[in-house]
Amino acid sequence: MADRYAVIGHPVAHSKSPWIHAEFARQTGQELDYGRIEAPLEGFARALDEFRAAGGRGANVTLPFKEQAFSYCGKTSARARAAAAVNTLSFEGASVYGDNTDGVGLVIDLERNLGRAIAGKRVLLMGAGGAARGVLQPLLQRGPAVLRIANRTVRRAVALAVLFQDVKGGGFGDLAGESYDLLINATSAGLANETPPLPEEIFAAGAFAYDMVYGRDTPFLAQARAAGAATSDGLGMLVEQAAESFQLWRGKRPDTAPVLAALRGR
Ligand code: ATR
Repeated sequence: MADRYAVIGHPVAHSKSPWIHAEFARQTGQELDYGRIEAPLEGFARALDEFRAAGGRGANVTLPFKEQAFSYCGKTSARARAAAAVNTLSFEGASVYGDNTDGVGLVIDLERNLGRAIAGKRVLLMGAGGAARGVLQPLLQRGPAVLRIANRTVRRAVALAVLFQDVKGGGFGDLAGESYDLLINATSAGLANETPPLPEEIFAAGAFAYDMVYGRDTPFLAQARAAGAATSDGLGMLVEQAAESFQLWRGKRPDTAPVLAALRGR
């Protein structure tokens, strides 16, 4: 029987992960079966227990369970601990190992796929929820000149920033007069067709704007383009975090370019 993996979340019906991992498996000649588990909101741990009992080898965790997944693990990676969230679980007998590949997925998409340096750049990270926290440490490790967090609820930005060295947090109102080279939207505003309130001059000359939301043109990306910035949605981050999970499980890193191109319909 093929090794079993799954994405677990609520909802998961529209998750692209089963398709992505099937492509990775085909490409690397691995035999695996990757499904979907829609866990009830109060039933995350039980759903995972059942999957493991049925022989599951690993899982990807998506909203809203990434923090619960962190608590479920016996061992975690340093980057999962920095994120206080887990998106990749690996099961070995009775032991559960948790990792977080979201941040490295973002970094690889920016640097390798999009050709955008993080080192030495002024970086603005918008949002202070799980999505923002998940990418902070991997971004910092690339050596930005400045890393600033801005959030609608100011106290959440401040509380998040103090967990990391050399990161400042505040509200959008504090950004007046500042400009950034790399602007990363980790808020869910785009899903509601809204955008964080950014001052016009926030985009430095040659700036790059990235929205973690994918599959739609968000108002943030539209504003960035109007200001002359280059832009990307978060589809590449999705594929790269999947590739990192696949590598953890299978010991091989798939070639993400054809998978990303296929998802973009090219
Ligand atoms: P996630 O795990 O996706 O980060 P979350 O913890 O609910 O989910 O965080 C959502 C983030 O998007 C928060 O930073 C939220 O700002 P608040 O902390 O002020 O709630 C941000 N957000 C959501 N809708 C927004 C909007 N319309 N404008 C600006 N920020 C928004």
